[in-house]
Order: sequence, then structure tokens, then C-alpha cells
Amino acid sequence: MDRVLDFHTAKAMLEWQIELGATEAIGETPVDRYAAAADPAPAAPVPGKPPQAAVAPAAAAPAADPAPAGADAVEAARSAAAEAHSLEGLRYALSSFAHCELKKGARNTVFSDGNPEARVMIVGEAPGRDEDIEGRPFVGRAGKLLDRMFDAIGLARAGSGAAALYITNVMPWRPPQNRDPTPEEIAMMLPFVERHVDLVAPDILVLMGNTACQALLGRKGITRLRGHWAEVLGRPALPMFHPAYLLRNPAAKREAWHDLLMIRHRLEEEG
Ligand code: URA
Repeated sequence: MDRVLDFHTAKAMLEWQIELGATEAIGETPVDRYAAAADPAPAAPVPGKPPQAAVAPAAAAPAADPAPAGADAVEAARSAAAEAHSLEGLRYALSSFAHCELKKGARNTVFSDGNPEARVMIVGEAPGRDEDIEGRPFVGRAGKLLDRMFDAIGLARAGSGAAALYITNVMPWRPPQNRDPTPEEIAMMLPFVERHVDLVAPDILVLMGNTACQALLGRKGITRLRGHWAEVLGRPALPMFHPAYLLRNPAAKREAWHDLLMIRHRLEEEG
């Protein structure tokens, strides 16, 4: 039976959920914030019932999308990425790309952070909650650890010259419930990531975790891949454990330190 809550009861219930740790309303499916932003049509009045306030559905039905799926979407990504001749152009192309469903549930397109002149470019997986809110990659707990790790070898996003660091992700939009991106989503974003690497032209790529390895090396298995130089788009690339993994498995920091030193040595060797 429908029950209309009075203001004080509804407020108390909300406060109780916040007390329990709820920080945002998350549904099973992504919320289409573009459709939600449009004025919902007022509900037709039901005879004998007081008019209801218009409420956006928790999980809005996907808007009719003329965007093609599958191979066509990958092709659209390829041509959009190829037409970008600067990082600003690429950021614009990505934020206007309408073929990926994840975009509809995201608050922000998370493009990059740090200094694009850097010799080292990190490619992570996808934004989480904090990154989605702030619009910058790696700003949550894993990001803080990542900053400390690279700081230990003299690299920082705010650094310049030899101390510079540049960071992006395979996926620019947060997957719902932080699930892994699907192979189709990765394939759709790959042309943008490749163009991003071409435009930044780093001396070294760091592939942070399995999603980055899947996207740029075509294979996963970070435990075996990490610590071994590979070649990606004609550049040396080093797979490393993702800092979120290191937070769950602190013993693996030993290997991460080894890999950081490999980066340091390569930068020194190549001057
Ligand atoms: N994990 C990632 O791979 N990227 C982020 O931006 C945040 C967490």
C-alpha cells in the first residue's frame, strides 16, 4: 500500500541512511542524467487523489539513442579521435562522444590530470566515485597512494621538467558500482586512448592494472605482466599493479617499488 510520508518522517529516514554510511543514491542501472536534466512531464491527475510532485525515476529509461552500437561505434570513435589534433580537441571529442552508455550515468568526463609535457604517462582503468565527482583521475584513496608512489621516484602531477607526471584512464566515465569495463566499452574507448598517447608522446607509458593491459597490450594477467617492459604504440610500456590492488594487498608493494625503480632507471639511462 502506498504511504505518503510527512516531511519529518522522511527527513528522519534519510538521516538514518546517512548515519548508516549511505553517501549517494545508486541504482542497479546507470542514471541518464541528460534525460533527468530535462523537465519531466507532469503526471496526469488521478481523480480522487491529490496531485503528486513530479519525481524523476530512480533509473531513467535510456533515451532514444540514434547512436550506432558495436563495430559502428568503434568506427565512430576512430574517426572522432583521428580528427583531434590537440589535447583540448581530444577532450572535446571525447566529451561529445554519444555512443557509450556509461556517459549517461556519469557526472563528469574524466579526461586527464598532470603535466602533458611529462616523460611518463600513466594509463589507469576508470573513474570511481571520487573521480566522477571531481572530474579528475585518481583523486580517491588509490589516487593518494599513486601520488605517494610516484613522489618516491621524484614525479608528481604538479611537477614540471624532469619531475612531471601525466595521468589518464582507459575509460573516461565511471562504470556503475565500479564494475570492470566490458571488452566492448574498452574497444570503443581505445581509439581515444591511442590518440591521447600520440598527442602526449611520453617516453614511458605505465599500464596501471589489468584494464590498461587489456586495452593496450591485448592481454591481462598483471601478476605475470608486471615488471616486464613491453612496447605499446612504439613506446616502452611497463605494466604495474594498480594502487587499488596494493591497498587490498599491501605485501605486493614490494613488487610495486621494484617497478618504480625500473621506471627511474630507464628515465636516467635515456636522459
Ligand atoms: N582507479 C583508476 O584506475 N582510475 C582512477 O581515476 C581512479 C581509480
